[in-house]
Amino acid sequence: MDQELIETDLLVIGSGVAGLFFALKSQGLGKILVVSKRELWESASYYAQGGVASVVSDQDSFESHIQDTLSAGAGLCRPGIVEMVVKSGPERIQELIRLGVKFSTRNQDQRELFENFPHSDFDLAREGAHSRPRILHSQDATGKELEGVLLRNCQKSSSIHFWEFHQAIDLITSEKLGEPGPNRVLGAYALDLKTGAIKTISARAVILAAGGAGKVFLYTSNPDLATGDGIAMAYRAGAEIANLEFFQFHPTCLYHPEAKSFLISEAVRGEGALLRTVSGERFMPKYHHLAELAPRDVVARAIDQEMKNSGADYVLLDITHQPAHFIRERFPNIYKTLKQYGFDLTKDPIPVVPAAHYICGGIQSDENAGTSLEGLFAIGENACTGLHGANRLASNSLLEALVFAERASRSAAKYLAEKKPGLNIPLWETGKADKLVEPMVIKHNWLEIRRTTWNYIGIVRSDQWLSQARRRMDLIQEEIRQYYWNYLVTGGLVELRNIAIMADLIARCAIYREESRGAHYNLNHPEPNPEWARDTVFQKDSGFLK
Ligand code: SIN
Repeated sequence: MDQELIETDLLVIGSGVAGLFFALKSQGLGKILVVSKRELWESASYYAQGGVASVVSDQDSFESHIQDTLSAGAGLCRPGIVEMVVKSGPERIQELIRLGVKFSTRNQDQRELFENFPHSDFDLAREGAHSRPRILHSQDATGKELEGVLLRNCQKSSSIHFWEFHQAIDLITSEKLGEPGPNRVLGAYALDLKTGAIKTISARAVILAAGGAGKVFLYTSNPDLATGDGIAMAYRAGAEIANLEFFQFHPTCLYHPEAKSFLISEAVRGEGALLRTVSGERFMPKYHHLAELAPRDVVARAIDQEMKNSGADYVLLDITHQPAHFIRERFPNIYKTLKQYGFDLTKDPIPVVPAAHYICGGIQSDENAGTSLEGLFAIGENACTGLHGANRLASNSLLEALVFAERASRSAAKYLAEKKPGLNIPLWETGKADKLVEPMVIKHNWLEIRRTTWNYIGIVRSDQWLSQARRRMDLIQEEIRQYYWNYLVTGGLVELRNIAIMADLIARCAIYREESRGAHYNLNHPEPNPEWARDTVFQKDSGFLK
């Protein structure tokens, strides 16, 4: 098959809110290529129900949002970053409204709202660990609204180009080319999932916005594409990676054999829903003074404990005490989806379980989205910016994506202005491989990884389970390396390699942190240890740096 070399100024990997907002803000910097492994709209952002946390009401304050973020982050947030992100929020929200995003309001229309900003009439939702209502939302499908508006705006731009169904395989770096000097990212190889061709992309800067890694675990709220591609690629390229042990579990995913990953937004608890055991007892007040609105790690662990106590496979989420018309209007999508599975949210307590939801760690990045590699910027769930610390405050992630996408665009502009010399980039070499790995083999390995993570590095961990997970991951990774060298590269194989690396790194970071904090809970070290009030930073060749 013919090899192709494509040149661009900016290569954006991922088409969720972070990648699209970056692309929009970077028009004018040159040619921008956005690569997405599914259809353009298909991203974890699209499925975000809750919303964007930001201070847009005179009943709220920056100090309160900062404090809530720091408390949820359990001592690991970078305070300067938290302050910067929280204070940048209103400007980014105003920008979204200008682009056409419609947030739910109580009485006013968007136009009036925009003019009165920030003293407004937004219908602000409350979510776990927020001390007041501050979540801007578009009914219960905020991600869909943002993604649609950003995509439509990007598609009007002549400098933004899109490749859908292209899977990024690996970053191309100066170190891999044997060039002296600091390691610099020069582009990426991408597999055209429709033709099987592997394209070589030469880029002056690369922006990783490839989303999360929930598919590393057996049960997740994330869509199938969340295979940790960005973080795994950055790791292989030699970037510093941080805090992967802090994987947040969302307390309430629908428990139903056919519902693969349907999330029931925390906003439902924000509107008063209660958690009950299968026998109908409310249990959260005995775990935390904020009860159902306690931080997510507390609620997820409490549910896990109650399921273990009762032997049941789920607990119940009950909002039946609220008026039926209110539930239907506030949560139209959740209501409709639950109906398809035979539940009526206005009448039935809904069976729910916790599921892997958000990785708080990622590629170590600075206040301008720069990483430890020249020419590589990380945004959205790919980045570890210091905003979330050990546990993310609900709905802070879309805010983070917007704020850092804007800052990354400014950093990229500066970086491109440095006019680094171009290097000769070799085309992808297929080698002698001519066979495809059996899909069954990929499926089998994938399942083994996801079961191992769920059982051994899930909501509750122990030293023994973590070591068992690592041993299994060593074996599986060895097998995957063999496939990788001896068979043709496919989308399935690339994703399998990425989730195996992610599972291994999560286990390693979890073993390294000998304490419990935020989203990381180890039975053998159940308390936080002040000596561990620091990031876990890891690099491929050097191991743990801190
Ligand atoms: C939700 O709607 O519960 C998810 C919000 C979030 O994870 O930030």
